[in-house]
Amino acid sequence: MGLIEVKDVSYSYQGKYQTIEAVKNVTCSFDEGAFYAIVGHSGSGKTTLLSLLAGLDLPTSGEIYVDGSAMSALNRDRYRLKTASVVYQSFNLFPLLTALENVTYPMQLQGRSKAEAEAVAKQLIAEVGLGEKIWRRRPLMMSGGEQQRVAIARARAAGGKIMLADEPTGNLDAKNGNMITNQLKLLAHERGYAVIVVTHNEELAKQADAVYMMQDGQLTTLAKEGQHESDA
Ligand SMILES: Nc1ncnc2c1ncn2[C@@H]1O[C@H](COP(=O)(O)OP(=O)(O)O)[C@@H](O)[C@H]1O
Ligand SMILES: [Mg+2]
Repeated sequence: MGLIEVKDVSYSYQGKYQTIEAVKNVTCSFDEGAFYAIVGHSGSGKTTLLSLLAGLDLPTSGEIYVDGSAMSALNRDRYRLKTASVVYQSFNLFPLLTALENVTYPMQLQGRSKAEAEAVAKQLIAEVGLGEKIWRRRPLMMSGGEQQRVAIARARAAGGKIMLADEPTGNLDAKNGNMITNQLKLLAHERGYAVIVVTHNEELAKQADAVYMMQDGQLTTLAKEGQHESDA
């Protein structure tokens, strides 16, 4: 059984005039130590599925199991704080906090001492290949690639083993995009994370252990060697 089991999950947005079925009867499973890509056209439901995996919302029907526990029965605030982290296209660092403060923040929320949190944060920042120079810098003074690496370090700070990313290379050039791809792959293969990435980036999808395609709310598996569509 996978770390995450998605069982016949659907999700609808209830608008004033219409209901949009964004995710339709999706069943799939994600293992620890594996790197997954989800590709598909814009509007096909990728972000919605990721939000469900992140526990930001519950399925309209069906269930997601994490380590055997039903998401609907979990404390989802705690799940988001301790188990699953999300990295976004727009980096989403706290603009007024330095790199070190950004990475320290989730640990302080968990009640760890400042000194301890800072020591761990420095280690996590080093592991994404950034040096001391970045510690006191705010996001505005960092490149996109640096911001995204700090965002990955911050996502790890919470300590969970589920890493979700929505177009993490979407705002980066090829070189920085590849660097982020490699970081995410390393998390899966060397640190045992389940890494699930929504992407238009062909390079990233090529590196994944498995590629899923979202099409009009439905998820299919693409053969690893196969071609996939992209609207990038
Ligand atoms: N907050 C929302 N309210 C209503 N409809 C939404 C909302 N977010 C997304 N949708 C719709 O749900 C469908 C899937 O969207 P989304 O999951 O964002 O797709 P993707 O990430 O693949 O572009 C689209 O038809 C989109 O318009
Ligand atoms: Mg999206």
